[in-house]
Amino acid sequence: MSYETLLVERRDAVTLVTLNRPEALNALNSRLLTELLDVMAAFDRDPEQRCAVITGSAKAFAAGADIKEMQAQGFADMYADDFFGGWDRFTRTRKPVIAAVAGYALGGGCELAMMCDFILAADTAKFGQPEIKLGVSPGMGGSQRLTRAVGKAKAMEMVLTGRMIDAAEAERAGLVSRIVPADDLVDEAMKTAATIAGMAPLAAQANKEMVNAAFESGLAQGVQFERRLFHALFGTQDQKEGMSAFVDKRPGKWSGR
Ligand code: HXC
Repeated sequence: MSYETLLVERRDAVTLVTLNRPEALNALNSRLLTELLDVMAAFDRDPEQRCAVITGSAKAFAAGADIKEMQAQGFADMYADDFFGGWDRFTRTRKPVIAAVAGYALGGGCELAMMCDFILAADTAKFGQPEIKLGVSPGMGGSQRLTRAVGKAKAMEMVLTGRMIDAAEAERAGLVSRIVPADDLVDEAMKTAATIAGMAPLAAQANKEMVNAAFESGLAQGVQFERRLFHALFGTQDQKEGMSAFVDKRPGKWSGR
């Protein structure tokens, strides 16, 4: 399957998705959203695929939602079409997804990176929510996810001034899991993805779901959710295999059951 706005490559159990609109610094238009949703749905359905990496170019992960596409829209169009509503489907991807960010991740680009399960940043990465400079605001969850990730003070300053933060500041603030040299970014992301892909698949999905519950719910509800999923994993063959393998001092062989 070939796409107009994406390059998709499957390397063993890892799907690598490269945003590919170089003429617009990977600005996220409706075509790109449709194609990305299609790729992620196929990824989730494919039992051979275990982890995905989303990346952009050396210059830009994505410089935002496509301003040229939005420019002429009015309230009625945006509201009636639930513009950006489709991005919620991206966040329902059940298997782990890593954002590998080099260069600009601005507006919707920063929001897409934050919709992934974690962000690996190149030392060239720059994050920002500059929508206020366009007379608007984040519209793909950025005001919520950024605030939960970096706290109110930094999020508020970023959305009110449009100031970009570099990779080092993003790491200090907890927005990214770690920083790697730009030249190694995709290799490092693929290596990390391969590590995740080597884990018991049901456990990987459950771990993702429970960390997301921490992000989306109160403490008591999140702890309860974690315990239920933890209990459920004891109904899997991979729990028996994983624990037997540990006792036998050998690597586990996962069946995904
Ligand atoms: C459409 C974009 C774009 C975008 C860049 N381009 N960002 N097109 N939407 N978000 C296009 C430019 O128009 C230009 O096309 C080409 O990409 C290269 O960009 P330049 O500006 O020439 O590059 P440079 O001078 O290096 O500056 C890079 C940049 C700048 C600092 C990242 O492009 C920039 O500020 N972009 C906009 C960032 C932004 O405001 N993002 C938030 C968008 S709103 P041409 O045809 O001229 O060569 C959003 C959420 C909206 O994401 C939610 C509200 C509903």
